[in-house]
Amino acid sequence: MKMNRRNFVLAASLAPLSACVKTQAISSAVKSSGLAEAYRDKFLVGAAVSTDTLMNSDVADQQLLKSEFNSITAENCQKWEEIHPELDRWNWEASDRFVKFGIENKQHVLGHTLVWHSQIPEHVFRDSDQNLASPGLLKSRMENHINTLVDRYKGKIDTWDVVNEIVSDDGYDKWRESDWYKIMGPEFFYHAFKTAHAADPKAELLYNDYNMHYKSKQVFLKRALSEALDRGVPIHGVGLQAHYMLGEPSIEEIERAIEVYAEMGLSVHITELDVDVLPAAFEYMGAEISTSFEYSDELNPYPNGLPEAVAEELATRYAELFKLFIKHKDSISRVTTWGTTDANSWKNNWPVKGRTNYPLLFDRSGNPKKAYHSVLGLVS
Ligand code: G3I
Repeated sequence: MKMNRRNFVLAASLAPLSACVKTQAISSAVKSSGLAEAYRDKFLVGAAVSTDTLMNSDVADQQLLKSEFNSITAENCQKWEEIHPELDRWNWEASDRFVKFGIENKQHVLGHTLVWHSQIPEHVFRDSDQNLASPGLLKSRMENHINTLVDRYKGKIDTWDVVNEIVSDDGYDKWRESDWYKIMGPEFFYHAFKTAHAADPKAELLYNDYNMHYKSKQVFLKRALSEALDRGVPIHGVGLQAHYMLGEPSIEEIERAIEVYAEMGLSVHITELDVDVLPAAFEYMGAEISTSFEYSDELNPYPNGLPEAVAEELATRYAELFKLFIKHKDSISRVTTWGTTDANSWKNNWPVKGRTNYPLLFDRSGNPKKAYHSVLGLVS
């Protein structure tokens, strides 16, 4: 569906904020070595930071974050269940350490994630009689959560994943029947962005989702995002989570996704990149965290190390992905890997618990892998 002129102009008018955040972040980020420095004139290069890295003072991991990346994302510590476990109780310690780390290292700091159907306490959607909360009650709870969190880090967190994953996994062509949607309808999506923007008008605000290369999802999201922009909802960009496999999705499918969202005047962020090298537990290719499958040895073929041939395949895959990102650097603000080393990747336990996966650029000892060198080799 062609965007109408009004919402294209609106999206384009919001785009400079994204461009400004990108330029400012790259220029002000400390001169780091490694990937971030090598890609400085292309886009930000980031990593998700685990709560363990922060709370257990994992010095090696922290050193890697400082030297290789100029953008960091809170992997878990700012999720509703972690940071706001009771209606009147907040856990700030890990999140404060995360933000402090980013500020001290002059990195672009990304907050993750304000409104999501997952990792959110059930009581948020219940009234005092344990019935579904009214739209008004849920709206006030959303406002309290977003205002408290965004206000605390105003001027420190540059970009927020405001809403995650609004699209149903059943056909990818309708709203996910989350409690947010069931109670407030699409208004929950619009109000989350409006509230975040009012709380920090300078923050860049993203919609973040997986399988953004699926055509039916693109059709749905073009309509939903256009509708939101048409209503003046301040959406500045989209996050393609990019939880990929060695062989899929194709470069052509990923390129089309980048183009579809960029054509809407939205900045494109690669927000959670990893490449799963293990056999697919099922043909399921999403990242819906509630999905899981039984462990079996055939699903865990490399418990004692990655074979050379597979390391080579991974290096080739990362190189083709980054070649594509470089080609579209004018639309892409940031490329973030979902973790720092293979040791702390969520892919060791999802969709099958207890596997040994190798989805990132640094191995379990924090050493750069072939894939790292193939990515660095594209620009140096
Ligand atoms: O910290 C506790 C630990 O104390 C406890 O012993 C252990 C027991 O299982 O759980 C630990 O918390 C786990 C947490 O990761 C830290 O490891 C949670 O159970 C587990 O649910 C959580 O999984 C995270 C998942 O989101 C759900 O929040 C993954 O690390 C994280 O990588 C993943 O990331 C999501 C993005 O936020 C959104 N996009 C999809 C992506 C993958 O699902």
